[in-house]
Amino acid sequence: MNVEPLQGTPDGATDQILSDHGNLRERLQGLEEYLRQPVDSVGEWLLILREALHDLAEECRAHFRDEEVGLHHQLREHSPRLAFRLQRLMFDHPRILAALKELAAHFPAHEVMERSELRSLKERVRSALEMVHAHERAETKVTMDAYWDDIGGESG
Ligand SMILES: [Fe+2]
Ligand SMILES: [Fe+2]
Repeated sequence: MNVEPLQGTPDGATDQILSDHGNLRERLQGLEEYLRQPVDSVGEWLLILREALHDLAEECRAHFRDEEVGLHHQLREHSPRLAFRLQRLMFDHPRILAALKELAAHFPAHEVMERSELRSLKERVRSALEMVHAHERAETKVTMDAYWDDIGGESG
């Protein structure tokens, strides 16, 4: 989904969320692309992946905090009908951070890996990325609904 930044929305909350989601989406796509590349040197490949996952976790942590301390609240104030969906999304945050932490805690640091090990690591990383993606997609949808409320449109 390609969402353009919107102007004139409630306190800039929707603009901020959509812009953060754009950045996060680029990072996720970069990681997915990295997983598709052939692995020449396992040690080096793991090192880069570990660093990229660390950066993703940091970005998520900061972004979730911004949402929790203000952005979601602004959307809720503006569109009370979205309160339940926003609440559910808020519950996702600690689950996602815990999943990324778990991945980092069991991240291998080998020079050599069996193909099956490598495949299973890629699968674990992909499912963590998909978790973040799914959350942000649902949140972008809620944010767009708040935007429609703002301009007086109808949305389902
Ligand atoms: Fe969120
Ligand atoms: Fe978000």
